[in-house]
Amino acid sequence: MTTHSRPTDAPAADAPAPEAPELQLMVLDVNGERHEVITEPRRTLVDVLRHELRLTGTHVGCEHGICGACTVLVDDRPVRACLMFAAQAEGARIRTVESLSAGSCGRPDELGDLQRAFRERHALQCGFCTPGFLMLAEGFLAERPDADREQIREAVAANLCRCTGYQPIVEAIEQCAAARRAARPDARKEK
Ligand code: FES
Ligand code: FES
Repeated sequence: MTTHSRPTDAPAADAPAPEAPELQLMVLDVNGERHEVITEPRRTLVDVLRHELRLTGTHVGCEHGICGACTVLVDDRPVRACLMFAAQAEGARIRTVESLSAGSCGRPDELGDLQRAFRERHALQCGFCTPGFLMLAEGFLAERPDADREQIREAVAANLCRCTGYQPIVEAIEQCAAARRAARPDARKEK
C-alpha cells in the first residue's frame, strides 16, 4: 500500500494566508494496488492518477469528455477520467494503460498483446491518443471478444485521433481480438 499527499505551496510573505483547502483521504485500487491519497475532494480521477500516483500514461486532452485521451477502466468499463471525481472511484477497480504490459505478459517492461498489435499495425503516429484508445479497446474486447470490424469501428468512434485516420487502429484491435480468440481453450480444442 502506498500513501500519497500533495505538498502545499508556501504563500508569499505579504500575501494574506490562503484558506487551507479541504482535504480528504481516498483509498483507490489502481492496477491491483491499493493507494491511500490525501487530496481535495474536487480533484478528478485523471489528475489524481497523473499527479498523485505518477501514472502519467493516461493523457489529458480536452478535459471535457470529448476526446477520450483520458480513458481508463473502472470496474472493467471504459470511462473518461476527466469527468469523474477521484472520490467517485473509491471501492472500484481502476485500470490504466500501465496495466496492459504487466497484465498480459507478466513483465512490466514488455508490451502486452494489444500494444504489440498497435505497433505492428502502425496504429499510432504522435501517440497522444493511444493510451485512451488502448483502454477503450481493452474494455470493449473484454465485453465483446467476438466483435467484427464494423462493431470495432463503431466502438473506436468514441475517441478522437487527429493523426491516423482510424483504419490502422481498427485493424490493430481486430488483429488482437483474432489472436485472443485463437488462443482460447475452446478454439485450441477445435483444431
Ligand atoms: S481529456 Fe478526458 S475526454 Fe478529453
Ligand atoms: S496518433 Fe496522434 S492523435 Fe492519434
